[in-house]
Amino acid sequence: MTVQDPVDLLGLHFPNRVGLAAGFDKNARAAWGLFALGFGFIELGTITAQEQPGNQPPRIWRFPEDGALINAMGFNNDGADEVARRLRSDGRPPIPIGISIGKSKATPENDMNAVVKDYLDSLRALYPYGDYIAINVSSPNTSGLRKLQGREQLSLLVRSIRNELTFLASTKGGSRKPLLVKIAPDITPQAIDDILQVSSDEGIDGIIATNTTTGREGLHVPTNVEGGLSGRPLKEKALQVASYVRRKAPNLPLIGVGGIESVDDARRMVEIGGADLVQIYTGFIYEGLFFPRRIARGLRLAPARARG
Ligand SMILES: Cc1cc2nc3c(=O)[nH]c(=O)nc-3n(C[C@H](O)[C@H](O)[C@H](O)COP(=O)(O)O)c2cc1C
Repeated sequence: MTVQDPVDLLGLHFPNRVGLAAGFDKNARAAWGLFALGFGFIELGTITAQEQPGNQPPRIWRFPEDGALINAMGFNNDGADEVARRLRSDGRPPIPIGISIGKSKATPENDMNAVVKDYLDSLRALYPYGDYIAINVSSPNTSGLRKLQGREQLSLLVRSIRNELTFLASTKGGSRKPLLVKIAPDITPQAIDDILQVSSDEGIDGIIATNTTTGREGLHVPTNVEGGLSGRPLKEKALQVASYVRRKAPNLPLIGVGGIESVDDARRMVEIGGADLVQIYTGFIYEGLFFPRRIARGLRLAPARARG
């Protein structure tokens, strides 16, 4: 059913290199259907410990002329316990499933103990259903979230989650599940260096680059709406961040995401960005249901990145 272009990474077997980016299936309602469309992996969420409605609509705007979206969803989701219940009853398709977790809005952003506990609550509820865990510290739509990319906060968060992953593996069996961090495109090279330092000090298993941008370059229709911009205007920025990460961390598993709207874009993300895997969201919205298979098939003909 899937396009075969297998990659073994993070201790997981990916049937192909094209994944669905976080934010599309926030509540794990569509994993089987998405699998049928040919995705090689799916990142569910972002899920928070507490159920929350997200921001008031309107919270998503289309800019078809620019192949772009702006969203200010604000982590609308059913909460970790309910999503876990759904995954338990529906089962899960036979491709790697990532679980993206984020901070509940009600948790005060300046209380790091509460923030860590919030992520750990989600992790404990959802642990059995994910093959990797992605921590989202890069959405622009939750106040204070991106501050968690700072060296001190990220160290604490990663250390706590990693310890919990080790503990969960020892009690529930199996090997420790990989922990990835999703980063914003709007950070300086110095900030990326800090994240990579945390990665080697605390053991981040991979980077997902990037989330949406707060910049508006490349958007030709003037707009005042606030939120994260995705799609074509993000393309070069995401590629730059990915290739910077790759240059600085040649062996770190890397998922490239941002502005992929053609086979050529996906190949550039692999060949120039150095990504091992790619994810798509906005391109999928505009290009439609055959898009994941088309990209997976196109990438199959591209050489996989030589590692090490
Ligand atoms: C409507 C919408 C909701 C999103 N929600 C999330 C989310 O909950 N968690 C997350 O990590 N990224 C979220 N994203 C970001 C995407 O996963 C992706 O990183 C970004 O859109 C760039 O990829 P693209 O240009 O292919 O869309 C969202 C994007 C969109 C358009």
